[in-house]
Amino acid sequence: MDELEQVADDAPGLVGAVNSLEGLKGVETELIGKNSVISRMRRGLSALDPDDRPTAGARINEVFTGVQVVIADRRRALEIAEENTLLVSDRVDVTVPNHRVTLGTEHLLTTVMDEVSDIFVSLGYRVATGPEVETAWYNFDALNTPSTHPARAESDTLYVDFGDPSDEMLLRTHTSPVQARYMQDHVPPVHVVVPGRVFRADSLDATHSPVFHQVEGLVVDTDITFADLKGTLEYFAKAFFGDGRVIKLIPHFFPFTEPSAEMHVSCFACDGSGCRVCSNSGWIELMGCGMVDPNVFEAVGYDPSAVSGFAFGMGVERLAMVRHGITHIKHFFENDLRVLGQFV
Ligand code: DAH
Repeated sequence: MDELEQVADDAPGLVGAVNSLEGLKGVETELIGKNSVISRMRRGLSALDPDDRPTAGARINEVFTGVQVVIADRRRALEIAEENTLLVSDRVDVTVPNHRVTLGTEHLLTTVMDEVSDIFVSLGYRVATGPEVETAWYNFDALNTPSTHPARAESDTLYVDFGDPSDEMLLRTHTSPVQARYMQDHVPPVHVVVPGRVFRADSLDATHSPVFHQVEGLVVDTDITFADLKGTLEYFAKAFFGDGRVIKLIPHFFPFTEPSAEMHVSCFACDGSGCRVCSNSGWIELMGCGMVDPNVFEAVGYDPSAVSGFAFGMGVERLAMVRHGITHIKHFFENDLRVLGQFV
């Protein structure tokens, strides 16, 4: 029994000195494991005088339970300490400035070009593209633009010199040459829109840039009339600027259409009463259009007596500037993220 009392006395100190859960397991085995004093004494109870057994048994159990409690307390304390160490080593300093990942946004010109194309695609049009470096034939001749036309002068058109004078090359001044290319490759009926980049010998001001974008449209079939053109453009105006819009077509001149017109849309900002957006006129000029000139059909091998068609061409920068109140075209090309990020 002295040995047992010794265990009872020593246990708290032994357990208290342990500093890890692993170490505690060892001490636990030593104190109450199979070969511990306590276990040995339990097994030896039967050898005692029956009168002494109850007292000895009770004391053994008391010491056993006491040791168990001391070990359990120590285990809980060690577990808490271990968790705290982990929390400290895992700590995140929320005051450190982070590196913000900024998401890119689609460029407004791309958005508007896609939006315009989609409106026509919803009517059954196809989308076509063509080369930015173009021949003078596609850019001018096929489009009924005579060699004396002022637009062909170097003051307006950027020519590219590849050293072969018989092959006059230029940066296309409009998306209209794709009309000719598309008709050469397809038989009517044709319903096509052509978004793309165009170039002119213009210097930069609030509304002009040497590089800008257009969306061209072309419809060819039997019996296409001016009324089809007007209905189509009115549909577009409502889809792009809102339901209340109406349009008017004002006589104009383009070499490749006859008759030709300028399309104006009633101002979406003031509903036609006059405001800053429409320069107090109530109307906004949006694009050129007209009925395809028979000479254009001839040039691409269509029979002008068998088919008719309409065409239109609009400036993408202008559409975007009008709709979003952008006052200088440079904002599209300076790529200032504070500007571009506004249009998501
Ligand atoms: N190509 C003309 C321009 O750049 C715009 C245009 C006008 C296109 C009339 C057309 C059209 O297809 O029919 O100013």
